[in-house]
Amino acid sequence: MLSYDIMTLATAIIVGASSQLSQEIARQLAQQNVELALFAQQPEQLHAFAESLPTKATVHALDIENPQAIINQIETVWQQLGGAHLVLVNTGLNGYNPELPWQMDEDIINVNVMGFAAICNTAFKLFVEQGYGQLGAINSIAGLRGGPSVAYHASKAFGINYLQGLSMHAQRLKLPITITDIQLGLLDKAAMQGSKLWLSPINVVAGQVLKALAKGKRHAYVTKRWRMIAWLTKYLPEFVYNTRHWNKKQKK
Ligand SMILES: NC(=O)c1ccc[n+]([C@@H]2O[C@H](COP(=O)([O-])OP(=O)(O)OC[C@H]3O[C@@H](n4cnc5c(N)ncnc54)[C@H](OP(=O)(O)O)[C@@H]3O)[C@@H](O)[C@H]2O)c1
Repeated sequence: MLSYDIMTLATAIIVGASSQLSQEIARQLAQQNVELALFAQQPEQLHAFAESLPTKATVHALDIENPQAIINQIETVWQQLGGAHLVLVNTGLNGYNPELPWQMDEDIINVNVMGFAAICNTAFKLFVEQGYGQLGAINSIAGLRGGPSVAYHASKAFGINYLQGLSMHAQRLKLPITITDIQLGLLDKAAMQGSKLWLSPINVVAGQVLKALAKGKRHAYVTKRWRMIAWLTKYLPEFVYNTRHWNKKQKK
């Protein structure tokens, strides 16, 4: 397992750089002298942000719904950079509709399964060629068990298992390639409920993500307090898990 001092990290690629969390992570990495390549759907919207960073940061187009295109894009940028120490995947699509429209599920599967796998597969093979590196992905505790956002939960389970498999390949190849699965809590739900207990400032979330990466963890819950919910999610008996209500029941 690779565990490095973040200060020695030279280059990082962040895929899905338009999100607030990605930008905070980019900012904290840049403050530690890490050069960045940022992938976003609309790269032109990130130019000003990239220029505001204290280190060199380039911005690139992300066409996640076209796996071959995203593979080519990552490989091209990798060549331009001369390799990278860290690839951080922070792409994701969520949606809930009790009518279960297929289009929503298809979109989620395209981004969270097809696109995610294409990015991780490409990054892993580039790390194998290079002989070392770290692949980090920001996932969700939603992947620990099925849930009402059916495709989202299932896609996050795919992500967890895909990363586990890559980690086994790294182990078998005896290469110092670290695979880190960061499982975020259900921050949107906490935000909707206005729960200060569960919501942490974005800089704290980003800081915990970077700490877990720097320690070379196989997986980490962020923020740490979600560990207990993750445990409950995994072990609650089905008759309790299946009937739990996040919102108060409507009186009939
Ligand atoms: N926020 C939460 O409450 C929460 C909780 C648990 C886990 N997570 C997981 O953590 C990760 C990041 O969360 P976040 O809050 O930073 O998410 P976010 O703000 O929704 O950002 C996700 C990223 O994915 C990109 N993306 C989505 N659809 C795309 C598409 N079709 N093509 C290209 N890029 C696309 C977004 O780019 P655009 O902005 O350009 O669309 C964005 O950069 C995701 O995997 C998410 O599932 C989030």
